Amino acid sequence: MEIQMWREILNPYELAVEELTCKFNHLIKEHHDRGFYSSIERVEGRVKAISSILDKCQKKGISLDEVTTKIEDIAGIRIICQFVEDIERVVELIHKRSDIEIKQEKDYINAPKNTGYRSYHMIIWYTVETMDGPKRIMVEIQIRTMAMNFWATVEHSLQYKYKMHIPKEIEERLSKSAEAIVMLDKEMSQVRLEIMDAQNAFQHQAKVVADILNTIQNMYRVASTREMAKIQDEFYQIYSMNNLEQLERFHKQLDTIAEGYRTQSIDE
Ligand code: GTP
Ligand code: MG
Repeated sequence: MEIQMWREILNPYELAVEELTCKFNHLIKEHHDRGFYSSIERVEGRVKAISSILDKCQKKGISLDEVTTKIEDIAGIRIICQFVEDIERVVELIHKRSDIEIKQEKDYINAPKNTGYRSYHMIIWYTVETMDGPKRIMVEIQIRTMAMNFWATVEHSLQYKYKMHIPKEIEERLSKSAEAIVMLDKEMSQVRLEIMDAQNAFQHQAKVVADILNTIQNMYRVASTREMAKIQDEFYQIYSMNNLEQLERFHKQLDTIAEGYRTQSIDE
């Protein structure tokens, strides 16, 4: 097939990967902006390399004109979560989306593969708008924890290195480490609420500080240099106390002062 043909075939898949990673990244941002915990930790996306598509065609006896109907993972999105519990939430979230239609689901978490591989897989239908109008294509979404991702990445590299003929000894090691990963995910689940609390508190504090700095910046335009210097000193002093309640109180006071300036400038 001509290279130009591949370009045309892969183009909508590139768009789908870009759009979906952008959309999931925005979901993370929306949660963080509101000071909420995000079930999605990180998103990755890729379009399958032409060489990998050709390899897969050969292995599975797929002809080149069947590529887009028989290969489901030309576009691939990987969603990484911190905890196993987050995976269900992400699956629910994807079910509810109006821009995604689910074609197939495979739960390799409750039923891991023989290799020890764990992940939740979804094949979805997704529509992109192209020069020739809307195009409905398949996208593979893999949802897994950071620990599962670590294992799968290492195992994949070894498979690549040994060209699918992994020595028995290494296979056993991988199998053992897969068990260790299950344990790690279980342990993390036990402390999940505590970790989430700590992360939430951190994010909330970061948001309060950002709001304060924003207010101070706006006040520079209207307040006197002397007053601003006083406010800044006060802020640094309170910030160094590392106490969220104090910061919040300062934030409220500052808002009242800023509000005073606003009404003043409207009245003028
Ligand atoms: P493919 O022919 O690879 O698409 O397999 P499949 O059609 O049976 O689909 P499956 O859902 O099993 O696998 C799809 C993808 O999941 C693969 O392309 C890999 O990215 C990943 N995967 C599946 N099994 C393993 C595994 O044992 N180890 C690793 N590292 N990744 C896996
Ligand atoms: Mg597949």
